[in-house]
Amino acid sequence: MPTYIVLLGPPGAGKGTQAGILSEKFKLPHISSGDIFRENIRNNTEMGKIAQTFISKGELVPDDVTVAMIRDRFKRPDCVRGAILDGFPRTPPQADSLAEMLREFGGKVDLVPFITAPAEALIERLAGRWSCKECGHAFHSKFNPPKTPGHCDFDQSALYQRDDDKPDTVKHRIDVYQQQTAPLIDYYKKGGILTEVNGFGSIEEVATLMNSIMCVE
Ligand code: AP5
Ligand code: MG
Repeated sequence: MPTYIVLLGPPGAGKGTQAGILSEKFKLPHISSGDIFRENIRNNTEMGKIAQTFISKGELVPDDVTVAMIRDRFKRPDCVRGAILDGFPRTPPQADSLAEMLREFGGKVDLVPFITAPAEALIERLAGRWSCKECGHAFHSKFNPPKTPGHCDFDQSALYQRDDDKPDTVKHRIDVYQQQTAPLIDYYKKGGILTEVNGFGSIEEVATLMNSIMCVE
């Protein structure tokens, strides 16, 4: 039976960072909706052009575009054993679509770690984030600096600061999260699969907490 883990939490909580660690550990693909959108923007695809107009304002990309993109990603063979989902779903209709898609593959969402951190920490983390242009891996100038300044530890590509990490856009993303994504906390609580994880520690401390809630073989 495939295993699907959905990481939930506000912008900057550490979803991408922890998803990367889990992906290595469980040898499951890390599917980040934000990374796929950014790749499409870089490649100037039609979908990337649509996504850019929303992402630059800190708004959510419409559900139909997002769901179609994830459906497409699930077709790749690396998903047969499951996936670590980071940033999807982000609205209750997206969560319904995910449940429907997984039913088709004979799976379901198994666990939803909900990573929390205070708003000031989120803003500080995003202000100092440097992301790899190629693989999307996130570093932090203070909390997780790359070995060579300005370059990714994994593929040596250049690091850049995301346009939507500007303080005003971050504040708006946090509001959008509260209005449109936070309802998923109750959605998954009702399903009995949500576990809150205190994300306000070091990356290693949070990884240890994440490990303690995993029941994946
Ligand atoms: P997306 O890329 O998903 O952004 P986000 O949810 O806003 O989350 P972030 O990537 O900003 O934060 P994170 O939790 O991954 O934190 P990270 O691990 O990098 O989405 C971007 C946009 O795409 C959205 O605004 C929307 O427009 C669109 N979109 C995406 N998905 C969508 C969907 N499903 N539907 C509609 N639209 C969608 O960590 C942040 C920083 O902190 C890093 O520098 C890291 O090194 C550091 N850090 C991490 N953990 C710690 C720690 N414990 N202590 C100290 N520093 C830490
Ligand atoms: Mg992320």
